[in-house]
Amino acid sequence: MDVEFIKDQLISHPDFPKKGIVFLDIFPLLRNPVAFETLITHFLHHITSHTILKSPTKKVDVVVGLDARGFLFGPIIALRLGAAFVPVRKQGKLPGPCVSASYEKEYGTDIFEMQEDAIQPGQCVIVIDDLIATGGSARAAGELVAKEGGKTLEYLFIIELTFLKARTQLDAPAYSIVQSD
Ligand code: ADE
Repeated sequence: MDVEFIKDQLISHPDFPKKGIVFLDIFPLLRNPVAFETLITHFLHHITSHTILKSPTKKVDVVVGLDARGFLFGPIIALRLGAAFVPVRKQGKLPGPCVSASYEKEYGTDIFEMQEDAIQPGQCVIVIDDLIATGGSARAAGELVAKEGGKTLEYLFIIELTFLKARTQLDAPAYSIVQSD
């Protein structure tokens, strides 16, 4: 039921940002505080009661949020879990030593970075973004987690474009609330 409620808030914009793309806008969801709370509670329930942790003594140490819409709800989830929030940003935005990973975009390559000391070896991590399309950015974020010695337990998204089958190229299971084909 909350899935339908969350889904109802999303607005499709045909031909944005260019012809042929149906852009799924999450901002109306954030505009409605009841819906926003439902979203956060849904993620929290999934994270704490499903198979991500596999053992009652395990916990999520770090929530990694992806530039830019993963920054909107990742920190809230981290705070509720008592976990750290760590941003993954486009190259050149983070100060200090960083690890980096490249990924393919529609036109050319982009580079993601994470601060070098953000994750300690052995820490359990979840990676969060608003939408998974081709999965390049999520895969690059997983690479950064692995470079720092963290273990990605799961990738979480509000929306998954299932026809792109991106979850198959990730190194951990993916969870999405709304599937679009
Ligand atoms: N990012 C990549 N594809 C998208 C889509 N269809 N809607 C919103 N964000 C996207």
